[in-house]
Amino acid sequence: MFTVNSFMESKIKGEKITMLTAYDYSMAKIVDGSSIDSILVGDSLGMVVQGYESTLEVTMEDMIYHCRAVRRGTKNAFVVGDLPFMSYHISTEDAIRNAGRLIQEGKVHGVKLEGGVEIADKVKAIINAQIPVMGHIGLTPQSVNMFGGFKVQGNEVQRARKVIADAIALEKAGAFAIVLEAIPGKLAKLISEKIAIPTIGIGAGKHCDGQVLVLNDLLGMYSDFTPKFAKRYGNLSREITTFIGQYVNEVKQGSFPEEKHTFDINEDLLKILRD
Ligand code: KIV
Ligand code: NA
Repeated sequence: MFTVNSFMESKIKGEKITMLTAYDYSMAKIVDGSSIDSILVGDSLGMVVQGYESTLEVTMEDMIYHCRAVRRGTKNAFVVGDLPFMSYHISTEDAIRNAGRLIQEGKVHGVKLEGGVEIADKVKAIINAQIPVMGHIGLTPQSVNMFGGFKVQGNEVQRARKVIADAIALEKAGAFAIVLEAIPGKLAKLISEKIAIPTIGIGAGKHCDGQVLVLNDLLGMYSDFTPKFAKRYGNLSREITTFIGQYVNEVKQGSFPEEKHTFDINEDLLKILRD
């Protein structure tokens, strides 16, 4: 079992941490059975599961629903649930209550929220409620309207300094790890060396202490928007289309279902029914 302590232990041992998203029971079971360290029930589900254009429409109810499903399929991985937009922005009290709901109702092991310096006090308060917190800085998708699009963060001195300050603030607040999204690889390396807690990169180069990817991107099962850093290991959309085509053809031709897919009836009973 990968626990909250395993994150720091992995960094100390120099072992890379692996994390993938999952949103439902069946996929979580496959991911969990594939020696992955940690599963993220990301609010990216707004895009890849719900079909929205951003993560901004995802609600606490959506997150709880998906977290519960994922947890039923998980035995070994450490499961993190994303706190959605507006679930921790209004007050610290709100942040603690909603983090608590993800643990109590969603049954995840820890929560992730976006932001650094501005939310460090909320991170601390959630941790005081005995809930492990993962940070998320750099390109934080819930801030898309402030960024003016999905853009690499930390390419100029002011932004880069801000990302470093955010990482330090989250470490001080007690986060057990930090996701670094879409920042230059060398900035991610600098941060990973500067802080004691592990960094989990997505579009942040190979020097992070771990990596996270959206499962649908890895599988080639989401094509509306593919960022530069999303490596496709296959084209599952194409495979699924092939399988469905075969099914449709077989039904049309009458070659499916076969005898072996069909239930038998007692011959005497059939005779009675015929008479
Ligand atoms: O929602 C998500 O999937 C994420 C990862 C991309 C880090 O936050
Ligand atoms: Na997210």
